[in-house]
Amino acid sequence: MALEFVRSTVRAMSGYTPGEQPAPGERVVKLNTNENPYPPSPKVMQAIRELEGEMLRRYPNPTADGFCEAAAALWKLPSRHMVLAGNGSDDILTIATRTFVGPGGTLAYPDPTYSLYPVLARLEDAKVVTVPWAKDYHLPIEALAASGAQAIYLANPNAPTGTFVSPLEVASLAKAFGGMVLVDEAYADFADDNCVALVKEHENVIVSRTLSKAYSLAGLRFGYAIGRQKIIAEMMKVKDSYNCDAISIVAATAAIQDQEYARSTWDKVRTERERVGSELRQMGWNVLPSQANFVFASPADGRGKEIYQGLKRQGILVRYFDSPGLSDKIRITIGTSQENNALLSGIKAVTTSEKAA
Ligand SMILES: Cc1ncc(COP(=O)(O)O)c(C=O)c1O
Repeated sequence: MALEFVRSTVRAMSGYTPGEQPAPGERVVKLNTNENPYPPSPKVMQAIRELEGEMLRRYPNPTADGFCEAAAALWKLPSRHMVLAGNGSDDILTIATRTFVGPGGTLAYPDPTYSLYPVLARLEDAKVVTVPWAKDYHLPIEALAASGAQAIYLANPNAPTGTFVSPLEVASLAKAFGGMVLVDEAYADFADDNCVALVKEHENVIVSRTLSKAYSLAGLRFGYAIGRQKIIAEMMKVKDSYNCDAISIVAATAAIQDQEYARSTWDKVRTERERVGSELRQMGWNVLPSQANFVFASPADGRGKEIYQGLKRQGILVRYFDSPGLSDKIRITIGTSQENNALLSGIKAVTTSEKAA
C-alpha cells in the first residue's frame, strides 16, 4: 500500500480535530468554535470591495509590510520588523515550532490547553512535556522552567478553560526559563490585560495574536506574532514565502485600524459572558472564571456529555472534549444575547426532559 511512503510519525498520529462546521445553509446556533458573533467591521468589507484585480495578478507583499506597520502603530512598537504576519495564528504556531523546537527538541506547556500544540510538536518529531496547571489555574512556573524544553507555549487566556494568568506570572516564567516563551493571545482582546509589554522586557518572549476571534475574521485566516526584531527575522526564514494573500493583508489591516468597532464587539461579548456565567451558576453549574469569549462549565451532576448531545439535538452546537479531566464540562462560545438565550433555554430543556424521563 502507498502508505509506506508516508512518514511513520504522520501515519501514527491522528491530526488536529477542528470543531464541527455546519453545512452551508444549515441553521444552527453555533457556539462551538469561539467565533465572534458580530460581523467584521464595515471598513473591512469596504476594503475588500475596493480591491482591484491587479492586486491579485501579482504576488502579495511577502512580509505583509502594510499590516505590520499598522500592528506596530497599534502596539506602539518601535519598528514593524517586530511583527510577523501569518495565515491565522495556527501558521504562527507552526512557524514557531519549526523555528524554536525542531526535530528531537521538546515543547512544554501547561495542561490542559489548545490541542493543536502536541500535533505541531509531533509533526516536527519533537517531544512534548505537559505540566498540570497549579491550583486555581495558576502557572506552574518551576515545573515548566525545569522542563528542559526549547519552548513553552502558553495560551493566555487559556483554551478550553478561559482562565487567565497575570503578566507578572508570565514574566517570572520568562526569567526562570532558558528557552522561548510563546504567549498565545488568541483570546486576549476579551481579557483585562495582556503580555505584549513583556516583549520589550524579555528577549525570550513572543506573543501570538489572531484576527479570527476579536476581529470577527476566522474565515479570512490572519494572525501575527510580536517579538524582538532579531527573533522575528529568524522566524521570517521559516515561513512560507507568501504565507498571507493580498486580500487578507488588506482586510486585516483595515480591521486593526478600526479599533472603535472591534472594541464595541468585545464589550458586548464581555457583558454577555458575565451574564451567561451567572445564569449557569444560578442553575447550579460550576463555571470557571473566564477572560475569553467562551466559558468552560459543568452541570452539577457532571453530565456534560448529555448536555452537549441534548443541545445538539436542538440545533445548538457547543464544544465537548471527551478526555480525562474535561469530559464533565462543555465549552460554550459567547454568542449574541439572542443566541445565549437560546442556549440557556436549551440547557433547561435538556435538564427538564432528563428529570421527566
Ligand atoms: C488558543 C488558540 N490559539 C490559536 C488558535 C488559532 O486561531 P487562528 O484562527 O488564528 O488560527 C485558536 C483557535 O481556536 C486557539 O484556541
